[in-house]
Amino acid sequence: MDWDKLGFKVVPTKTMYVARTDESLAWQPGSCVPYGPIEIHPASGAINYGQSGFEGMKAFEAIDRKVVLFRPQDNARRMQQLADRFAMPPYPVEDFVTAVMEVVRENREFIPPGEKGSLYIRPVLAGWGPVLGVGPASYYIFYIFVSPVGPYFKGGVRPIDLLVTDYHRAAPHGTGSVKGAGNYAASLKPLQMAKNAGYDEVLYLDAREDTFVEEVGAANFFAVLKSGVIVTPRQGSILPGITRDSVMRLIGEHFSWELQERDVEIHEVLSQAAECFSTGTAAVVTPIGSITYRGSRHVLSEGKPGEKTMAIRDRLVGIQRKKYPDPHEWVVEVPL
Ligand code: PLP
Ligand code: COI
Repeated sequence: MDWDKLGFKVVPTKTMYVARTDESLAWQPGSCVPYGPIEIHPASGAINYGQSGFEGMKAFEAIDRKVVLFRPQDNARRMQQLADRFAMPPYPVEDFVTAVMEVVRENREFIPPGEKGSLYIRPVLAGWGPVLGVGPASYYIFYIFVSPVGPYFKGGVRPIDLLVTDYHRAAPHGTGSVKGAGNYAASLKPLQMAKNAGYDEVLYLDAREDTFVEEVGAANFFAVLKSGVIVTPRQGSILPGITRDSVMRLIGEHFSWELQERDVEIHEVLSQAAECFSTGTAAVVTPIGSITYRGSRHVLSEGKPGEKTMAIRDRLVGIQRKKYPDPHEWVVEVPL
């Protein structure tokens, strides 16, 4: 592996974890199997009715060379929320974490050394069995594959350019707050439009008023206002990011900066923000260089990474890599 050339794409590894339910929807013991395609029924609920969703996590090599995960139980719990919303049988939290550790252990040769990258972990829960009338699938699969990754955005840590389009990502009481695969299917066209026009990502506004910032296509949103106050959209139809939650706690507890979790109008961001950034497992903490809204481009912090943004990024990455103390015990070691 050339660790210096890692991007964010699928790299085949050695094994993947697979567990299935029987037709009474009881989970059967899973195991690691050789990496590769899995057979699926043509009438599967996942393919026909989009009854599927996923998680995103990373395993890192910390500065003491130990391999660690970040808040894995929270990913397991969020997948249970997905299961609930999509009428799927929940995968037990402890089994989820054990399975993640097993795949990481089996594929340890694919974990990039030190700060070269990380092993991206993708747990999937899906309706696998056949169903014809609209309804839940007759049996389910839970699987996990991994892929060594570098930065999510091409060019490493650099400010990204966002476009507000006419499309919405999630409606009130819809599925925006869970990681359903269909949310991402619906985001592909606006993402393609943004990329074709030279932007990195889409910034979504709320579906009811088309006024309040929700999130970036695959990451949450924060703005540091000129007053020094940091704002982030409240929960509802956004994905409750684990990085978002961690960053919110660091802002309040470590930095003692004022944080407001509330409705955030796009006009407030455009007129009052000194810096903006996005957070996510894949995105980590990514500075936002510009936001283009209704044809006009607003440059943030002169297109450079903001000072507070980079301080937050440094603190988060430092905790994840065990460079800084971890008072919340977010970092969990994988026994190898
Ligand atoms: N929002 C969306 C739509 C996402 O896909 C992600 C990535 O998982 C996030 C936010 C950030 O969530 P997390 O920090 O848990 O990775
Ligand atoms: C993540 O940050 O893990 C995500 O799931 C984002 C994206 C790759 C879908």
